[in-house]
Amino acid sequence: MITSNAPGEPDPVRGGSFYDAPHVLERYLRHRHSGVRSPNHVMEEPAFLDELGPVAGLRVLDLGCGDAAIGPPLLAAGCRGYLGIDGSTEMTRAAAATLRGTPGRVERRDIETFSAPPHTFDLVISRLALHYVADLDPVLAACRRSLSPGGRLLITVVHPVITSHEAPQATKEARTDWVVDDYFSTGARRRDWMGDTVTWYHRTVEDYVTALTRARFAVTALRECAPRSDRFDGDTAEFARRARVPLFLLLAGSRT
Ligand SMILES: C[S@@+](CC[C@H](N)C(=O)[O-])C[C@H]1O[C@@H](n2cnc3c(N)ncnc32)[C@H](O)[C@@H]1O
Repeated sequence: MITSNAPGEPDPVRGGSFYDAPHVLERYLRHRHSGVRSPNHVMEEPAFLDELGPVAGLRVLDLGCGDAAIGPPLLAAGCRGYLGIDGSTEMTRAAAATLRGTPGRVERRDIETFSAPPHTFDLVISRLALHYVADLDPVLAACRRSLSPGGRLLITVVHPVITSHEAPQATKEARTDWVVDDYFSTGARRRDWMGDTVTWYHRTVEDYVTALTRARFAVTALRECAPRSDRFDGDTAEFARRARVPLFLLLAGSRT
């Protein structure tokens, strides 16, 4: 388990309420959907879609769903149900707008307290939300319980080389240097992100894999979301910049 900040340090800024600040929400959604300039689009999404596989007939739970942009495509691909969970009131509102007119649903709930009856879902996804969660063990246990036999878990998080340390950025230009430090000192990190400060929880790659196996998932994929050249619209300089460091870690597991 990863504990919260050390004594004397400020209280953690929780992921859900962080996104309720209008300046954060607007900036995040603009960044998230900015195409070639979005690392999600050029790195995280291609790996995520590779590992997703066929979804026809599946009941999908999305933890930390944000604006639920993935919901309509999943439903169009034949998934039997989509439930998004998010701790942010504003994100939940954005997700409800995204899902309007579809059978998909969203609930404002914290990932840490979410539970569902056994065998409610066939696939649990969580994209870039679990590094906001201090203790993964109960969350993964709840995921396992809610999955049908053979059900799958597919998650992405900010890569541990990025969560380990935040070196101040000297200029406002696109970042060209990164510092990995305090890698094995896991726990809470205050991060300047999207114009404000939030708490992320740093874990090593090994910690993530161990947490999955401890929750009795058989790990079926571990990917570091290398940039995909076909997503850069020919911007070779940006491709080369994105090839310098991993930004995202993907893990997939099946319920044993
Ligand atoms: C970086 S965004 C990712 C959103 C979406 N999954 C996507 O890929 O676009 C992280 C989301 O997780 C939500 N979140 C963070 N911590 C949470 C928590 N403890 N419980 C519920 N939601 C949380 C935030 O409100 C935000 O919508």
